[in-house]
Amino acid sequence: MALVQLASLKVFLKKPFVTSDVLSDFLFGRFKLMNCAELENSSLKNKTALVTGCNTGIGYATCLKLAKAQARILICCRTMQKSIATADSLRRELGIHDKGRFCCFEADMENLDAVTTLAQDIIQLNEQIHFVILNAGVMQAANKKITKNGLELHFAVNHMSHFLLTYLLMPQLIRSAPCRIIVVTSNAYEYGKPEQLADHRFQSFPYIAVSAYAQSKLANILFAYELKKRFKDKGIDVFAVHPGAVLSDIYREEWLLHAPLVGFFTQKVLSRIMRTPQEGGKTIAALLGDALFSSSLREGYSDACFSNLYWKDCKPQPVNSNLVNDISAEFLWRLSISILKDLGILNDERLEMVELCEKTN
Ligand SMILES: NC(=O)c1ccc[n+]([C@@H]2O[C@H](COP(=O)([O-])OP(=O)(O)OC[C@H]3O[C@@H](n4cnc5c(N)ncnc54)[C@H](OP(=O)(O)O)[C@@H]3O)[C@@H](O)[C@H]2O)c1
Repeated sequence: MALVQLASLKVFLKKPFVTSDVLSDFLFGRFKLMNCAELENSSLKNKTALVTGCNTGIGYATCLKLAKAQARILICCRTMQKSIATADSLRRELGIHDKGRFCCFEADMENLDAVTTLAQDIIQLNEQIHFVILNAGVMQAANKKITKNGLELHFAVNHMSHFLLTYLLMPQLIRSAPCRIIVVTSNAYEYGKPEQLADHRFQSFPYIAVSAYAQSKLANILFAYELKKRFKDKGIDVFAVHPGAVLSDIYREEWLLHAPLVGFFTQKVLSRIMRTPQEGGKTIAALLGDALFSSSLREGYSDACFSNLYWKDCKPQPVNSNLVNDISAEFLWRLSISILKDLGILNDERLEMVELCEKTN
């Protein structure tokens, strides 16, 4: 996919105001992180965090910050080899010898049966989980891909896998409360269209990779919104984070970055202006533990700000309420449940269990 695809330009130019936000993210993103709070060395001792998609990029950078703060990490990558390599790499980088600090799991998140098995494996551990970072994500090339479950790839990996994993883990997360869930979204959500969520296989609307990504990121923020609403009284706090424009493997299919010669120069230029994965992980890390909540950055913000759903540049941000609201969030929740029921992945017993959690005090 070319960095500036004609198709994506067409989609983007329909919303010129938002385009300036995206451009400023690319050009000035690094300067907006000056006052970000950092996790302290042992601030997450005796806490457990689950991170998806953490063998590289923002997920790996987040694991580094969590591990430095002495959290135990449940590492969830596409394969067990990737999870083990991630744990080894964290141990090497930080000189950690304690074997119990990392626990490795595997799931190809485009396969919802594998996600169910992942949730069962985690439930079997029967331990408290204090933080969940739903980070795994794809941004595909132009060709549409339908997964084994019959879902469009972005929708399946970026949204449905995380919806299912969280849904199945919910009784355990409630038992672990207070628990903080961070859904890694993107400001690309603003290019999403709630009225097209029902056409998640792009059968009625033409498929454009960048809109499929935007739809999945809109789904991320709507999921976070609904989750926060349904479970806030159960000690579950939910945030949706935009990490900024980060030069990571997410652009692995971007020919401008990988073409001979041109790729080398593009990478050089972009590495000077775009955020590194470490910088991209800053808002996520600051929302974990109580880095932001107890830091001097708190000054000037009321308590209400700290329950804000959407964060970027280590600051609470308003959401576009035309896109993110009760109606769209409730619609996506019901749609996701009905997809999982149709696929035979959620049965009545599982549905009742989570509904009961939602209702009981
Ligand atoms: N980079 C940006 O500019 C940017 C901006 C806004 C939001 N985000 C969001 O930030 C999150 C992390 O992205 P990143 O930039 O760190 O990208 P990245 O370096 O490509 O990392 C993505 C992670 O997701 C994993 N993943 C992808 N498909 C998977 C699958 N089917 N099963 C299991 N794991 C899978 C990848 O594993 P493999 O290595 O095995 O593929 C990788 O660990 C994503 O949700 C992305 O949408 C990124």
